[in-house]
Amino acid sequence: MSLSRQMQSWIKGLAYHCGFSLRRLRAAKANTSGGGDYTGRVRPLLHKVDPYENFDWQTFPDNSSGWGSDSPAFAELVTEIRPARIIEVGTWKGGSALTLASQLEKLGLDTEIICVDTWLGALEMWTDQADEERFGSLGLRHGYPTLYYQFLANVCRSGRQSRITPFPIPSVTAAQWFSLHDVRADLIYIDGSHEEEDVYQDLVSYWDLVRPGGVLFGDDWSWDGVRLAVERFARESGFPITHRHDKWELRRPV
Ligand SMILES: C[S@@+](CC[C@H](N)C(=O)[O-])C[C@H]1O[C@@H](n2cnc3c(N)ncnc32)[C@H](O)[C@@H]1O
Repeated sequence: MSLSRQMQSWIKGLAYHCGFSLRRLRAAKANTSGGGDYTGRVRPLLHKVDPYENFDWQTFPDNSSGWGSDSPAFAELVTEIRPARIIEVGTWKGGSALTLASQLEKLGLDTEIICVDTWLGALEMWTDQADEERFGSLGLRHGYPTLYYQFLANVCRSGRQSRITPFPIPSVTAAQWFSLHDVRADLIYIDGSHEEEDVYQDLVSYWDLVRPGGVLFGDDWSWDGVRLAVERFARESGFPITHRHDKWELRRPV
């Protein structure tokens, strides 16, 4: 570690010790600089070691089942927006991320997809032990999900490791990290928790991360929690909700 990195790390340690909030520090910075837009790859900022390095993916079955993950909406939106960066909130085994990736490839776009998920499952995955698709897929080992490794294996099997970057952390915390690093995206797909308050928090947290002209969209309009949260957010922000195939959309004006 260089001297200046050591110094930075020491200052941060001191700040944490004194109870400083990174968000407050960031807010102060944003007030003076007006906020920025980081255009590089996010992977090296997040991962010091390649998350796919030495991962023995062949021991995992070929299984990327999910929900609404092969919707034609993904290809249409990628073609229309030609995003330079995509953030996905709620990845599960990677189905939707792989669909997005395949359309990016068809268009020859070098776009990075950052997948935010705890890989610990949502509420509905923990409510019925007989549900093989949800509870079973968590793959509990000593009581802790191994779903993340199935996701990693699916990405490796598809050969898309360089494009898909995992961010294994709660969605709101990830949004704070993105904001702290001035990371925004042209397409943000919201498919994490489907509980109303959680969805609303995701919308509030991610809306400011959508670049002008970009789209925030999501799955499961038929779920009360999702619909009520999106309607509430749209009412408060004044932006209209539109629908495309099975997805809802909110557009950020240019
Ligand atoms: C419906 S699944 C995502 C499905 C996926 N998009 C697909 O194509 O199949 C929801 C995912 O959101 C994740 N999740 C739920 N709440 C979360 C939160 N607060 N932060 C991060 N991830 C969360 C769960 O672990 C789960 O993998």
